[in-house]
Amino acid sequence: MNISIIGAGYVGLVTGASLAELGHTVTVMDIDEDRIRRLERGIVPIHEPGLNRLIEKNTGDGRLSFTTSVEQIVSEADIHFICVWTPPQEDGTADLSAVRAVAKTLGTEFAAQKKNDQIVITKSTVPVGTGKLVQKIIRESFKGDCAVVSNPEFLREGQAVADMMHPDRIVVGSNNRKAAETVLSLYENIKTPTLVVDLETAEMIKYAANAFLATKISFINEVANVCERVGADVDKVAEAIGMDPRIGKHFLRAGIGYGGSCFPKDVRALQQFANHEGYDFKLLKSVIEVNEQQRNLVVEKLIRHLKDIKDKDILVLGLAFKANTDDIRESAAIDIIKRLQKHGARVRAYDPLALLRAQQVFDGTITYVRHPHEGAKDVDAVVIATEWPEFRELDWAFMKSESRTPILIDGRNLLDAQEMKKHGFTYEGVGRR
Ligand code: NAD
Ligand code: UGA
Repeated sequence: MNISIIGAGYVGLVTGASLAELGHTVTVMDIDEDRIRRLERGIVPIHEPGLNRLIEKNTGDGRLSFTTSVEQIVSEADIHFICVWTPPQEDGTADLSAVRAVAKTLGTEFAAQKKNDQIVITKSTVPVGTGKLVQKIIRESFKGDCAVVSNPEFLREGQAVADMMHPDRIVVGSNNRKAAETVLSLYENIKTPTLVVDLETAEMIKYAANAFLATKISFINEVANVCERVGADVDKVAEAIGMDPRIGKHFLRAGIGYGGSCFPKDVRALQQFANHEGYDFKLLKSVIEVNEQQRNLVVEKLIRHLKDIKDKDILVLGLAFKANTDDIRESAAIDIIKRLQKHGARVRAYDPLALLRAQQVFDGTITYVRHPHEGAKDVDAVVIATEWPEFRELDWAFMKSESRTPILIDGRNLLDAQEMKKHGFTYEGVGRR
């Protein structure tokens, strides 16, 4: 089938390339000219394992192309995926201006090209009621048939292609059964459970999923904080409770809290739209507070060990919001560096992928090192802020010998505490004995 994807970000590019791989003809459209010109030259603007290969293969086969023209996508396709950003506003509500703009342009262009039988799919994460809003905006200029379908996306950055090609489930929500089935048929070569629900339920499923995962993280972080006080080990607690299938072993890694472009934004957005409907989602308030607190605990631990961190040299290992991505949006690492700077600390930082992006944030106020070993010289403390597995492989004996004071705060419980102590570090993880 001929499909258009609007928004060439993480979700749009991965969805577009994967649907092309599944045999569809896909045009990806974005308003960012520079991004589209680079994609046309084969330059992929994000780091996502397997994505470059998929884009190269499918553009080569003529199934995937890029454009900035809405006229073109409307003339070529009858199925349109909205994958634009929905960032948080100051009060936490989702900013739907991009979604509204796309709905308006599509409606105008459907009318201008006298189209019929159009399907518009919201894949962006949007508050309940947005599908109906999109429908209303399109109808203001287009009187032909147009069904709106919600098809929430559950991919994780760093493994987005694998998640897209092998999802746990596919959710399709619409009040138009035929349109829902057409959208499901796009994925017919993917073997996974499917759920067809109404529009509002599909929109709610996405927020409930992200909010639940974030709640699990804040829960284990609170358990970790109690563990520190009573002398228990949160890693073992998580392992044991995770063996109960009713709890499940995933998303029980204690640490400096969740970050990224979605959990922080979606938890707040759900809280906001519930509130807007007169419901106070008390649990989410605590989830957010605990997440905030975890970031500060790292700074408190440093102050406890160093007395005062003013003019101290701190090496932060990891800038990305999690491993295997160059994305630093709402990264706990970035937040922690800002807090350290407020206390007057001098920060050096290393990340295997995210250095370039971080440079745009800190604008020369931190020192970037090309390797952790280089950053360890005369350092007063090392902080692990991202769970990059390669940090386990560092020469920690060398790191210790280079340090001025061997203090190691492991914000991700990545390293073996006993081993680090043997190397001579004063080691603190999160919720570890
Ligand atoms: P992104 O910031 O990587 O990309 C968004 C793209 O939309 C940008 O390239 C931007 O130029 C483009 N855009 C903005 N306005 C536009 C317009 N009017 N017309 C055409 N293009 C426009 O965002 P993302 O991470 O891909 O997220 C997109 C949506 O998907 C969000 O709602 C997000 O919550 C949701 N989501 C993201 C992930 C993820 O892991 N990143 C996973 C699931 C769902
Ligand atoms: C998350 C969800 O996992 C995806 O299903 C969803 O589609 C996506 O958000 C979205 O809506 O955008 P992502 O943000 O890529 O995916 O990353 P996760 O792997 O979920 O990690 C999020 C954050 O939680 C990271 O900062 C990570 O370090 C942290 N985390 C994760 C923990 O602190 N502990 C854990 O046990 C797991």
